[in-house]
Amino acid sequence: MEEKCKENILILDFGSQYSKIISRRIRDFGVNALLYPYTISLYDILLKKPKGIILSGGPFSVYKKNSPKLSSKIFKLKIPILGICYGMQLISLIFGGKIKKSIYKEYGKSNFIINDTENLLFSDIPKKSIVWMSHFDEVKYIPNEFKIIGKTTYCNIAAITHIKKKIFAVQFHPEVENTVFGKNILKNFLIKICKCNINLVINNFIKNSINKIKKKVSNKKVILGFSGGLDSFVTAYLIHKAIGNSLICIFIDTGFFLNFEKKRILKICKKMNFYIKLINAKNHFFSKLKKVKNPEIKRKIIGKEFILFFEKISKKIKNVEFLAQGTIYSDVIESSSNNNNSSFISNTIKSHHNVGGLPKSIKFKLIEPLKELFKDEVQKIGEIISLPKEILYRHPFPGPGLSIRIIGKINKKKISILKKAENILFQELIKYNIYYNVRQAFIVLLPVKSVGVMGDKRSYEYAAVLRVVNTKDFMTANFTHLSYNFLEKISNRIINEVNGINRVLYDISSKPPSTIEWE
Ligand code: XMP
Repeated sequence: MEEKCKENILILDFGSQYSKIISRRIRDFGVNALLYPYTISLYDILLKKPKGIILSGGPFSVYKKNSPKLSSKIFKLKIPILGICYGMQLISLIFGGKIKKSIYKEYGKSNFIINDTENLLFSDIPKKSIVWMSHFDEVKYIPNEFKIIGKTTYCNIAAITHIKKKIFAVQFHPEVENTVFGKNILKNFLIKICKCNINLVINNFIKNSINKIKKKVSNKKVILGFSGGLDSFVTAYLIHKAIGNSLICIFIDTGFFLNFEKKRILKICKKMNFYIKLINAKNHFFSKLKKVKNPEIKRKIIGKEFILFFEKISKKIKNVEFLAQGTIYSDVIESSSNNNNSSFISNTIKSHHNVGGLPKSIKFKLIEPLKELFKDEVQKIGEIISLPKEILYRHPFPGPGLSIRIIGKINKKKISILKKAENILFQELIKYNIYYNVRQAFIVLLPVKSVGVMGDKRSYEYAAVLRVVNTKDFMTANFTHLSYNFLEKISNRIINEVNGINRVLYDISSKPPSTIEWE
């Protein structure tokens, strides 16, 4: 059914077995997918007012006489075009490229490398990933006005773009599940290239997610690992809308949260009618982590212990079959090689506790409705569902919490020192009206002591680092240019008020090459 109120993407079908999947993917983003045979007239195309056109794959060879062709006039309509597989070969042929039988026929998973990481089609996609290929022909020479933007091990020309026009083409199939970042590539085409309205897309995402969750969960129960941040509130909102009080939010207090967190979470959950269970696991987590130095091991232990707690809790509640998590896209990418049995996938940057930190076998089915979204998109959902400002613009707080902000081994004294320093930072950020103008701010406690002099006495205490960044999607970030006045204020208060710190440093690194957290 063609919905009048939505934006249209036209898919021209050249007989691919995946054409319907392309429509399905587009619809999942809340954009209307119109699937038509490639024979549709230019006049009819214009009547549909598409924001973009996708040329599907197909079982033919473009150089065969009776193979399906396309009028070159379509490229003069100034509508963005994405060619997939046969669609790519057709675009190349029309613009004067050469297509030949491939020496290596590729069917199945292939290693894909992006040549042009700046290209909008591949925006925020890891440079190396797995794509799904199914072709016996390939482009041997690209047309004059085109450039190559990606290759695979056996296919040097696996993605191309017109230098001036918004024409893109890929030899692989972004629409199939096996192309690991396929949905993100299609989303980039819709939002970044065709400029589909993100609000409409997000509104439809909300509707679709709620329906999917309802269907999946049916009359079972879901427990949600709830940390009190934006991602877990939005996840809770979607699931709660779908199944009401069959959702049980679980906040496990690891002792690595700031002291005011518990109260804040309870207050907001009450307001939103979420059922929440608080579990005090401070001693347990401390004893599991106290001897651990390596950050990856810290994350893995936390991921595993969370799951063990969820399993224990679920035994006491009837009918729990699902575990929900507020995982977002950047958590997945940065933990990625742990989730795929291929070392070719992007390197593990950090095993986020909820992805790479999860034990290999768990007894729950996972529900992660935000898994394909960036933080700014989750925020957009938050705006649409009118979450209060203190959740919407709250700085992210990593699941492993303060344990990964104490570099190296943790102990109770260090936790207490760091909590005091973070509290001071929070107070000053609010007072100076900076909190909502930066995206993340925190203190890192170094395992380094230095000499100082306080009240005519020698001191020998820890050094702390102030980290304040601005970012949109947390995949890249810049340190914030804070005023010297503010830096001085923070430094003075921390050194004067927190026993155990006698030196404060400001981190002026960006991401990449650094990351936001230190561990
Ligand atoms: P990095 O340090 O990788 O962090 O630049 C990017 C964002 O992710 C947060 N982060 C985590 N969040 N579990 C989480 O829930 C984790 O294990 C984790 N590690 C990092 C980090 O605070 C930043 O906002």
